[in-house]
Formats: sequence, C-alpha cells, structure tokens
Amino acid sequence: MSPKKVFVRTWGCQMNEHDSERIVGILHERGYILCDTPEEADLILLNTCSIREKSEHKVYSELGRYAELKKENPDLIIGVAGCVAQQEGSHIAEKSPWVNMVFGSKHIQDLPLMMERVGEQKTVVMTEDLKGFAPTLPARRKDQIRAWVIIMEGCENFCSFCVVPYTRGRERSRPLCEIVDEITALAREGYKEVTLLGQNVNSYGRTSEEGVDFSDLLHHVHAIEGIERIRFMTSHPNALTLKMIQTMTDLPKVCEHLHLPLQSGSDSVLERMNREYTYSEYVRQLETLRKVIPHISLTTDLIVGFPGETEEDFLKTLRAVEEMQYDNAYVFKYSRRPNTPALSLDRHLSEEVKAERLQHLLAVQKEISIKKNQAYWNREVELLVEGKSKTHQERLTGRTRTNRVVNFDGSEDLIGHLVRVQIVQAKTSSLEGRSI
Ligand code: 5AD
Ligand code: SF4
Repeated sequence: MSPKKVFVRTWGCQMNEHDSERIVGILHERGYILCDTPEEADLILLNTCSIREKSEHKVYSELGRYAELKKENPDLIIGVAGCVAQQEGSHIAEKSPWVNMVFGSKHIQDLPLMMERVGEQKTVVMTEDLKGFAPTLPARRKDQIRAWVIIMEGCENFCSFCVVPYTRGRERSRPLCEIVDEITALAREGYKEVTLLGQNVNSYGRTSEEGVDFSDLLHHVHAIEGIERIRFMTSHPNALTLKMIQTMTDLPKVCEHLHLPLQSGSDSVLERMNREYTYSEYVRQLETLRKVIPHISLTTDLIVGFPGETEEDFLKTLRAVEEMQYDNAYVFKYSRRPNTPALSLDRHLSEEVKAERLQHLLAVQKEISIKKNQAYWNREVELLVEGKSKTHQERLTGRTRTNRVVNFDGSEDLIGHLVRVQIVQAKTSSLEGRSI
C-alpha cells in the first residue's frame, strides 16, 4: 500500500512554521509523507495566522478552493490549525462545512486522536485552553543546519491592536531541561544554529517557578557542545535588561542581531497601543545596546495608521526610523482585529491614508537598508554556510552573524561549517562574498 500523503500550507510567523514542522513530525510517525500539491493529498492541513485581517481572508479563500477537491474525493481530510482556528473555532465549520478538524496550537499533540474521531463527528474542534506547556513533539525540520526551538509561548502584554494574547493565550515558559534536551539532541544530529522562539523571548521565566531568566537560559544553551550560533526572536523592549545585554556580549555564540519592535515613534500612539514605554525610553535602551555591542544589527516592527494617528504622529515614526537607522523594518498597516481594545478607539483611518503612509515609510527604510548593506563592502565576515544558493546552484549561501545573506563560490563540503569571506559586492537584499 502506498503511503498516505499530507499537504501542509503555513502562514505567519516562525512559530507557525515550526508548529507545522511538529505537525508533520507527528504525521510522519504515523506513516504520512509530504506532498507538493493539495490535489494529490489524502490530508490537507492549513496552519493559519490571524495577526492581520488579510491573512485570515486568505484562509477562507483557500478553503473555498478545497470544496471541489472534497467533492471529487469524499475521503479527503481537511484540517485547519493555528491562530485562525483558535480564534474562530466551530465558526470555520459553519462557514466551510467540508472541514473535518479545527484545532489551536495547544492541541497539535492531539492530532492522532482527532484523526481517529474524523468520521465519528461532523467536525472535530479542539480549541480549549490548556494550562502548561505541550510535551516535546517530534519535528520534521526543513533545514539540517539551523533549527527553531520554542522556549515560551503566549503573551501578557495586551498591546491594544494585537490578537496574540487571545489566540496564543497567556504567557508560559517551557521547562529549562526540555529546552536543553531538545537542543542537545539537535547538536548530536549535526545542527549548528538554533533560534529560540517565543512571542516575548526575553520574558522567559517570568511566569514560571524555576527561577531562571532569559540570560540564564542563554548560558545553558551556550554550554551545549556542537551548537555554534544562537539567535532568538522576538524580544520586547520592556524586558530588555542590562543583564541580557551583558549576556549577549559575554557569550560568543550569541549572534549580534536583535529584533526589537518599536511599533510607533509617537508617545501618544504608543500609549494608546498600550506598549508601556515612551520613544525616548526605547532610544535609551538602543543606545546602551549599541554602546556595548557596536556592530549589532537591529530590526524592528512598525504599524502605520493606528486609530487616531495624526500626520504629526506619523512624522515622528518617520523621524524615529531615520534616527534609529535600523538594518531592516517590517512595516504593517494597522488592521482591525476581533476582541482587541483598539477596535473601539475613535478615528480609524482610511485605507488610502494607511497605504500612503506605508509606502512613505517603506521608501525611507529601503534607503537606510541599502546604505547599511553597502557598509559591508570590503569587510571580512564569518558565515555559517547553509547550502547551495537558491539562484545559482553552483554557488553557496550563508549568513553573517548579523543575519545577512551572503552568496559566494565554494565547495559543497563547506556546508554546515563556519567560514570567513570578504564582501565584494552589496546588493539590495544580499551580499556577494569571496573566500579568504
Ligand atoms: N495590525 C497591524 N499590524 C499588527 N501587528 C500585530 N497586530 C497588528 C495589527 N492589528 C504587527 C506588529 C507586531 C507584528 C508581529 O505584527 O508590528 O510586532
Ligand atoms: Fe502582540 Fe504586543 Fe504581545 Fe507582541 S507584545 S505578541 S504585539 S500583545
């Protein structure tokens, strides 16, 4: 009998990408293999994101396409996982009755049970909140050199625009020993780099009784033999302590890159966003950081068109981007999300104004990103070689410690190793290097 096939489509953040790796890991143990198109699948799983309205719409339009497939093959199983599943629950089955399973990220471990129940129930829905952390699950990872590892989940910050506290739930940290065991196993398998994942990684330990904070965790991970590089994502400005900055510089495996969302350069917008810092407090944090780690690469998230954002507020965000000189910024138009306090604020802006501000901010940041990239010219950098270049199969690709992609000529046996190259050309979003 030929193995059953699963098609998985993922939207959203790295956490979702990694959840999909765990979903595939569980299914693989039950004999499923991955396939490339929904048409050839016995099981279709959509791992969804609800951070912005647009991502949610995409899920429904994708589900619409699968109604036909289900008619052709009534045995086809269709499941919806992730944040839209968590948020919408059984409404998904009401809108798209051909869906068999709806489950939130806390129920990935229950997938085998849900599969057994398909057929008994019209739609199996598992979205109830669970306390604690799911056990370590097998993951079928896409990469053989770099791995994602979840260290905490959920969020207690309740930024007024954000749906995450309602979809991913309250903040909880994964037990230290489970993280260390997972990374030790990864190192044994030959993985060289780990990215520690969580909505607020630097709040690690805040809600647990282990008495271990994020800096302590970094020390434990750093001690694992075989792991050469440590990254983490996403950090919150309010949990960026001096201890954390010091740890980042003390531990050579911790890469010089920090993603630190600012969201807005205007204090009144920040206040209405419930970010609990002012722009100047944020600036002071970055000044300290840059003093201690001068070459650190900094990236951020920004929202334009938050309710009540005036032209003056927007100019403050523009100015902030010019002052902060981020290596890159992810800019989003404010999007209304269900259950969030920002929904009921006055003065929602038109789509037109939001789009205009988005383009303006992106253009300013693009100039800065290019300039930052050009500053690498002639510099000697360390790369972790990840594989063959996507565009030129005969070339290799790797990343600097500051997370920049570099393509260069080299032999395949360098894959998985640290090498030094000289940067000979800066393109818009990548660099070209020459082996030294
Ligand atoms: N509208 C637009 N952007 C949002 N983000 C979160 N919620 C919203 C929303 N309602 C952005 C924030 C966050 C990033 C992951 O997504 O900038 O940092
Ligand atoms: Fe959302 Fe704010 Fe939590 Fe980030 S810190 S996940 S933006 S509520």
